Amino acid sequence: MAETSQDLDALKQEILTQVAAAPDAQALDAVRVAALGKKGAVSELMKGLGKMSPEERKVMGPALNGLKTALTDAITTRAAALQEAALEARLATEHVDVTLPVMPEPQGSIHPVTQVMDEIIAIFADLGFEVKEGPDIEDDFHNFTALNFPLGHPARDMHDTFFFPANEKGERKLLRTHTSPVQIRTMESQKPPIRIIVPGRTYRCDSDQTHTPMFHQVEGLVIDTETHMGHLKWCLEEFAKAFFEVDDIRARFRPHFFPFTEPSAEMDIGYTRKGNEIRVGEGKDWLEILGCGMVHPNVLKNVGLDPDVYQGFAFGMGIDRLAMLKYGIPDLRDFFAADLRWLSHYGFAALDAPNLATGLSR
Ligand code: PHE
Repeated sequence: MAETSQDLDALKQEILTQVAAAPDAQALDAVRVAALGKKGAVSELMKGLGKMSPEERKVMGPALNGLKTALTDAITTRAAALQEAALEARLATEHVDVTLPVMPEPQGSIHPVTQVMDEIIAIFADLGFEVKEGPDIEDDFHNFTALNFPLGHPARDMHDTFFFPANEKGERKLLRTHTSPVQIRTMESQKPPIRIIVPGRTYRCDSDQTHTPMFHQVEGLVIDTETHMGHLKWCLEEFAKAFFEVDDIRARFRPHFFPFTEPSAEMDIGYTRKGNEIRVGEGKDWLEILGCGMVHPNVLKNVGLDPDVYQGFAFGMGIDRLAMLKYGIPDLRDFFAADLRWLSHYGFAALDAPNLATGLSR
């Protein structure tokens, strides 16, 4: 086996051509194995060195080593090039145009009651209120007695209460007629200062265009040592401006009666009606939006707070009614009819969570 340097040159050219032509890493590796692997062409030639005469070996040894190095280099370079090309190809197929607008297609929508509840929570959270909840099934004490409704007081009958059958002791549970029992539950379990809002379901036996047996309220309660009616007024005016998304609002506080507040008031806001549209904040007409007042001393006594030390205000508003006003929804009963056409018309995009930074509604 007398290889000449021409033979080696030819072999080198042949393998280099194969290296250059290898289309991917796998093919390139096959070329490498065929040349430099244990039984590769170059390795076989190296094995022959031992049988050569010293003179021959002196020539062929360096020549073969040179060939091996040259081929190894060529393969390494080609491997790097192939790897880069593969990466480029992958990047090209996995390319994402981050400047393209996202087009989410959520199924379903947020119910106006949920939307308005979230809007109200966002506004009061910004004013430092904490969200509380209480049970829908209440006892007489929390729903009435502790709230200063004396037994037999006509105000109890005004609530059209749903009662459960009486137990052995003659006590009847009821579906809460308002969210005010959560005032009591909170004051029973937590020391002032208290600043809470309570969204939730409420129940009264009543049904027409503006009343449903189940409806929603948000209660508010602030108890501290120096809270007065000025705080109540400012707080509710700020709320009304934020909720109706107007810079200015006309509001009036009309004397009213609630057993658990003294003095009590209903808050009206100014509006005008243009055709079917209601413009809040301007005009000569008044719209009642909530009930409020200073917490009655008897209520404070009923939860063990000294009325000479603590005072505060409370308010309660109908969420459904506010939703009807803000979003021009004519009939309350439709809110609970589970009609998909109604929901897709009046519902809100699931991804637009109300917040004060980007706007409550869009
Ligand atoms: N609970 C009253 C209602 O349902 C509303 C209210 C709450 C009034 C708190 C004053 C203070 O009508």
